[in-house]
Amino acid sequence: MSRAKELVRLILFIFVTLISQAKAEETQTVEAIVSPPSTNSNVFVSRIAFGSCFNQSAPQPQPIWESIIRFDPQVFIWLGDNIYGDNKRPVRIWGRERTVGPWKNIERFFPSTEDELSRRYAAVKSNPGYASLRQGHPEVSIIGTWDDHDYGLNVAGKEFPYKDTSQQLLLDFLDEPFNSPRRKQAGVYTSYMFGPPGKRIKVILLDTRYHRDLMFSDGTMLGETQWSWLEEELNGPQSEITIITSSIQVVSNLSAIFEPLFYMESWSLFPKERHRLFNLIDSSKREGVMFISGDVHFGEITRYDCGAAYPLYDLTSSGLTQAVERTVPKALAFAIRFMAWIAPSTKRVFSPNCRFRSCTYGLPNFGAVEIDWEATPPMVKLEVRDEFGKTAIGVEFPLSDLRLQQQQPRSKTGMRGGQDWKYYKQHCLPESELPWFAKYRIALVLVSFAAASAMLLVLVVTKAVSGGTMFIKKFKVD
Ligand SMILES: *[C@@H]1O[C@H](CO)[C@@H](O)[C@H](O)[C@H]1NC(C)=O
Ligand SMILES: *[C@@H]1O[C@H](CO)[C@@H](O)[C@H](O)[C@H]1NC(C)=O
Repeated sequence: MSRAKELVRLILFIFVTLISQAKAEETQTVEAIVSPPSTNSNVFVSRIAFGSCFNQSAPQPQPIWESIIRFDPQVFIWLGDNIYGDNKRPVRIWGRERTVGPWKNIERFFPSTEDELSRRYAAVKSNPGYASLRQGHPEVSIIGTWDDHDYGLNVAGKEFPYKDTSQQLLLDFLDEPFNSPRRKQAGVYTSYMFGPPGKRIKVILLDTRYHRDLMFSDGTMLGETQWSWLEEELNGPQSEITIITSSIQVVSNLSAIFEPLFYMESWSLFPKERHRLFNLIDSSKREGVMFISGDVHFGEITRYDCGAAYPLYDLTSSGLTQAVERTVPKALAFAIRFMAWIAPSTKRVFSPNCRFRSCTYGLPNFGAVEIDWEATPPMVKLEVRDEFGKTAIGVEFPLSDLRLQQQQPRSKTGMRGGQDWKYYKQHCLPESELPWFAKYRIALVLVSFAAASAMLLVLVVTKAVSGGTMFIKKFKVD
């Protein structure tokens, strides 16, 4: 009987893991005034670190902060879910408060009070690891944006009623000056320019929450004001590199391969907006644009070759504490790795620098962008680093790869001869156009697994019942 229970638990675990996001708790405070990010244009920036999905009450020690400090970044970017500000009710399939399934009668997530949110931000500021980055290294510019959990509610968008309060709290957390225009606008988007001419890096922080329409509405992601602003930013002063940060993934479409089990937030679920983003980059003729993102609780590097005149990379790092392999008992981590391995991807960059075959990384990690300005041409290194600072995934390419004339635009139907086909498919084909056996591979495996387990359960139960009947019979006879 306990075997069967375990199997049921395993299946539940896998489902829960895949769906799981977060719950949050509280801790206490300290505070010190830290100067706002310096955008001193004479200091050139060659190392940028970033992280997302940080549980303010995660247990110590957290070696990841030392590793970030050792990487010696000039800029650190909070990419969202900087705290888990909302609260999660337990999974209940039956009972009075049912939180999952079409029969659910209560929302799984609910927001916190303003006080509670501030306490959770304060907990991050007093986290010894983060404090030593923020207070011990004032030369590091700390900037950031938000995702859903620090915005205040899982998967929330423009409908969220407490967004203006959340905005001030995030900006307090980021030490944004009180008179900053960023405190008066609707949403937290902004941009920074680092470095002297010839070595300029522009960082554009998007707000994917404040103006976002409901999921599956195919409505707006950024809202018109932010779109016009972004257009000006892309057409404005030049920079050798432009990093567009988005809390959610831009290139990868995980929903397409997890469908119909569940959907993950991403630009791909807003196809019109995603198309608009690529078009805007393309028509701005801006060179050196790339994305960084978080949210998904694992790291990967993807690349899209059909969005602009050069490859668009998306370096995803998630999370600083929230990592998919940590949501299951250690003994089950293999199941997650197995799933990552069988998951098809047309956008992922497979490189020899990956620790695992899947080229994903499901343990705590941070993102690292390194530019070697001294090389000719300058070299760009994108990495997902583990909590000890070691590379788990990495790609390196010359900055000149992100120049306009490097690549013929590839139309979706205009596939080019033999050799190119695989490559074209690899970084261009939408996941939703994969052959069905690849697209539904994960669903098939999970469903077969669930079916096999159910059969086993029935077998065990039948056996137990017939054993019981035998026992009763015996009892009666005796
Ligand atoms: C954060 O960590 C605490 C302590 O381990 C845990 O109880 C809580 O569930 C975690 N929250 C999330 C969102 O994982
Ligand atoms: C991503 O996948 C979902 C689910 O299959 C689909 O509805 C959506 O159109 C896809 N987006 C893109 C950009 O391919």
